[in-house]
Amino acid sequence: MTAAAPLIELRHISKSFGPIDVLQDISLKVHAGEVLCLLGDNGAGKSTLIKILSGVHRPSAGEILLDGRPVAFASPKDAQTCGIATVHQFGGTFPLMSIGRSFFVGVEPTKGWGPFRVFDRKRANTIAVQAVRDFGITRIDDGDRLVGGLSGGERQSLAIARAVHFGARVLILDEPTAALGVKQAAHVLRIINEAKRRGLAVIFITHQVTHAMAVGDHFAVLIRGAIAADFRKGERTREEITDLMAGGEIMAHIEAAIEGAHADT
Ligand SMILES: Nc1ncnc2c1ncn2[C@@H]1O[C@H](COP(=O)(O)OP(=O)(O)OP(=O)(O)O)[C@@H](O)[C@H]1O
Ligand SMILES: [Mg+2]
Repeated sequence: MTAAAPLIELRHISKSFGPIDVLQDISLKVHAGEVLCLLGDNGAGKSTLIKILSGVHRPSAGEILLDGRPVAFASPKDAQTCGIATVHQFGGTFPLMSIGRSFFVGVEPTKGWGPFRVFDRKRANTIAVQAVRDFGITRIDDGDRLVGGLSGGERQSLAIARAVHFGARVLILDEPTAALGVKQAAHVLRIINEAKRRGLAVIFITHQVTHAMAVGDHFAVLIRGAIAADFRKGERTREEITDLMAGGEIMAHIEAAIEGAHADT
């Protein structure tokens, strides 16, 4: 028997913007229930890669496979319909909306009929609060609260819970923990583990090696648009991962340079 096809796979993806080659020959696989950490220094091409996966950009070459079948996304809506959800740094939710309302943007539950249909606020609130609770976030208990009043970690939790509630199978997180404190980042990491337990394929972009090591099963490091390393949990030490994330430079050398700059002043 052959193993199940990866839930999502990239084959030989390249991307150029005019004369600028941003990604070269990227091949990656993520299985259901697995977290892939996408690492790399600023400008390495991480966000461009996930924009291709989420239908924002078209690849210049290569293909995307979902459940082993080639797919092409003409728009972000297309990718969403195929179960690919992307959550950005600040959760992508709407600060001036209530929690319940933001949860259902575009898919509002209504009661009544025809022109008399109204947004069912109570039902929306109950569902949104429950969905977040199912991820272990118990401090959100009032769906009428404004999203803008939530902490960064709570917003991320809400955005992830929303994606999973509406049937996402692939969850892409572009630096969700970047602006968070220690406790809030821990919340988000716990939610990533929960999404994994539920069988989603997760692609997690981070600059923090501790966060990557806390949840990653599989790691890919991008350096100047190409995959410089691709390894599984336990195959590299923390120091090796840190050096790769710095674009392949030895971190000790970088630290020595910083020390030198201090000494000069
Ligand atoms: N639309 C575009 N047109 C031209 N160049 C682009 C475009 N989008 C991205 N780039 C370039 O592609 C490179 C990779 O950018 P990208 O945003 O993917 O990096 P990143 O790995 O996400 O970096 P960071 O860690 O800073 O978020 C950069 O040099 C960027 O300037
Ligand atoms: Mg980026």
